[in-house]
Amino acid sequence: MSVKTTFTMNESFPMNAWYATAWDVELKHELLARTVCNKKLVLYRKKDGTPVVLEDACWHRLLPLSKGSLRDDTVVCGYHGLEYNSDGRCSYMPSQETINPSACVRSYPAVQKYRFIWVWMGDPALADEAKIPDMHWNDDPEWAGDGKMIEVKCNYRLVVDNLMDLTHETFVHAGSIGDRNVAEAPFDVHYDEHTATVTRWMKGIDPPPFWKSQLNKKIKYDGRVDRWQVIKFQAPCTVNIDVGVAIADTGAPEGDRSQGVNGYVLNTMTPSTNQTCYYFWAFVRNYNLQDQSNTIELREGVSRIFAQDEDILEAQQAAINANPEREFYNLNIDAGAMWSRRITDKMVEKEQKA
Ligand code: FES
Ligand SMILES: [Fe+2]
Repeated sequence: MSVKTTFTMNESFPMNAWYATAWDVELKHELLARTVCNKKLVLYRKKDGTPVVLEDACWHRLLPLSKGSLRDDTVVCGYHGLEYNSDGRCSYMPSQETINPSACVRSYPAVQKYRFIWVWMGDPALADEAKIPDMHWNDDPEWAGDGKMIEVKCNYRLVVDNLMDLTHETFVHAGSIGDRNVAEAPFDVHYDEHTATVTRWMKGIDPPPFWKSQLNKKIKYDGRVDRWQVIKFQAPCTVNIDVGVAIADTGAPEGDRSQGVNGYVLNTMTPSTNQTCYYFWAFVRNYNLQDQSNTIELREGVSRIFAQDEDILEAQQAAINANPEREFYNLNIDAGAMWSRRITDKMVEKEQKA
């Protein structure tokens, strides 16, 4: 298969979707500026811990509210002191008693779940918490781990492409998680209206150094393994990857993973502008749960691996900008990425028609 697809510069995103805007620990009782789907936002936590997301432009003269301050749960504009409550309604104007009833800034539905603060950018009437992508491993006591957020100078879909095809591990991450087996193993692709899944089994292989050392934290073993990668895309921008290795021929492909170690790479890439995104990721594991040094080792190890991706993705975006007329070619390896793009395109089309 070698199909050409047009890649336009202004790759769009659905507004009716939950987007991660911050790690739970990033959000405090202070003002934090973020840009999501090209909209400037100001975020903070109320004293009772509830997250608040408001438009980051004062009603009066548009100064970003993030340049102001918080007094209790009230945002005070840093220019002329207009005050807004957590619903975005103006509650004080200097030197006048009546408040103009139209004085408000937009407030966005916000929810804390799976250790992230999610914001709904579209029609608030459609903001159903059940639609938050499943990332439950991130705060499930059966799993342990941690992650980071990186601001990547590329369109969020380039990161989805990167994660939906792990062939790149062989070339971008040689020496840690990548080896020839990834690029050579066959894979299956399945999709439905909201998800696309790429499954790859590498049976009876020598484990790459990363997995060899992880397996040895649970089982002392030096031989061949069955390795898996099950990559699941949830529209529009979440990709969870079920990864691991088990001692070869102990039944892992059939579902018995007891002789192995399992991790999840959790990724959600929030469009910031058309050419930047917030890439939230975590690596969680189901072994050695109490070992905080293992958590730090994995977080920093994955962080170094993702810095390699960041370098590639930013260079790719720069090349796209330099060649706006050029198109992408799709190979067999791009099937997962291609379905992910189609599913997201459909969401965007549906919104534009509505
Ligand atoms: S710009 Fe905010 S009070 Fe004037
Ligand atoms: Fe990568």
